[in-house]
Amino acid sequence: MHFSKEDFGTDFKWGVSTAAYQIEGAHDKDGKGPSIWDSFSQKKRKITNGHNGNTACDFYEHYSNDIALINELNIPNYRFSISWSRILPNGTGAINFKGIDFYNKVIDFCLELGIEPWITLYHWDLPDALQKKGGWANRQVINWFSEYVHCCIKYFGDRVRHWMVLNEPMVFTGAGYFLGVHAPGKLGLSSFLAAAHHAAMCQAEGGRILRSFQSDYRIGTTFSYSDIDPLRENHEKDRKAAIKMDALLNRLFLEPLLGMGYPAKDLKILQKIERFMLDGDEQKLAFEMDFIGLQNYTREKVCYAPLMPFIQAKIVKANKRKVEHTLMNWEVYPPSIYKALKRLNTYSSIKEILVTENGAAFADQVVDNEVDDKERLQYLQDHIAQVLQAKKEGVNVKGYFVWTLMDNFEWAEGFHPRFGLIHVDFATQKRIIKSSGKWYKQLLANQLP
Ligand code: FCB
Repeated sequence: MHFSKEDFGTDFKWGVSTAAYQIEGAHDKDGKGPSIWDSFSQKKRKITNGHNGNTACDFYEHYSNDIALINELNIPNYRFSISWSRILPNGTGAINFKGIDFYNKVIDFCLELGIEPWITLYHWDLPDALQKKGGWANRQVINWFSEYVHCCIKYFGDRVRHWMVLNEPMVFTGAGYFLGVHAPGKLGLSSFLAAAHHAAMCQAEGGRILRSFQSDYRIGTTFSYSDIDPLRENHEKDRKAAIKMDALLNRLFLEPLLGMGYPAKDLKILQKIERFMLDGDEQKLAFEMDFIGLQNYTREKVCYAPLMPFIQAKIVKANKRKVEHTLMNWEVYPPSIYKALKRLNTYSSIKEILVTENGAAFADQVVDNEVDDKERLQYLQDHIAQVLQAKKEGVNVKGYFVWTLMDNFEWAEGFHPRFGLIHVDFATQKRIIKSSGKWYKQLLANQLP
């Protein structure tokens, strides 16, 4: 490992990320309404081992201890999300002031310790009451979301300066409204395209609302973005398949935001999204963000798959390719983050990029009260080195946030894949700082040997 914190400059934002449903628990405490993840995780065979986030890390009760741990690790920036149904139990209308109090305590305690709070407005937990009206597939969501954004600004916006509108819209619309493997478990092209268009509208609208309140807010939104390569390098059909997959996974939400429209030229099926567009939408999809959040974990290899509906392309998972991979079956391939940064940098309208998530799940062992997670440590070092390389080559990357602070509820995979810098015993809520966490602490204190 050949870098220090200083190599990144003094204005580089180092941080750690979490999401409400994955850590908070307290799923029905103090007036919180159910979200789509509360109801989805109660359904049979949706989540590995029948797990759910009812309690998770119980951050709702342990927040002060956990924020103190962020401080102990010398981490200056904390990215977390607001649970929409904790503050608006029905999604719109009546406010739950106990929910507002909770986030105020989180924000205030961060500020007291000198930790900058970064809010993600939407990290996948739509109020269930809104899903009953169609959720993201209903165009009304643009109004519901606007009301929610106004509410967050009203109660938190005097102290919070850094905002991210959406977390990975491709994942929550693709997995939630097309494949049915994430909440709300919907299937099919039409629900996906409707949800995608409305999410893309909200992504820009959220930015506009934030900007209208405060001109010095730093406003961004986040995207899952991976290097996508053809399985067989010189195979023409695989090459075309990779281009389509890239249009879907990397470009679908980014390009309309940048004013380029949907990438339908490279993926014809996206032309059908027009069915959900009204006059003037094309312009409304665009908004000038202060930064783009890149979330990168792996790369994808894609092959031609004639039977695959709509796209005729398929991702070939890491275990099938017999390459090194994490517990998520995601290939360990550090150059992916470098390539993603270089490529994002080719869009001249992107002002600044922050890596808002990067990390890995491995089978950690607790031995004598210690967790020596060598693989995660190596993964983080290798990826941060790639970020530095991109930065040295002129990419305007201004921050890096580890996914994630502590082991938590990993969506459809339940509690099995552990991504934390801190180990959590979910039965006792005991926390142990892993070797990776200790290393990050030293990096941030500029004390690496
Ligand atoms: C990302 C999500 C995050 C977490 C990581 C592993 O796609 O944004 O909540 O689950 O993957």
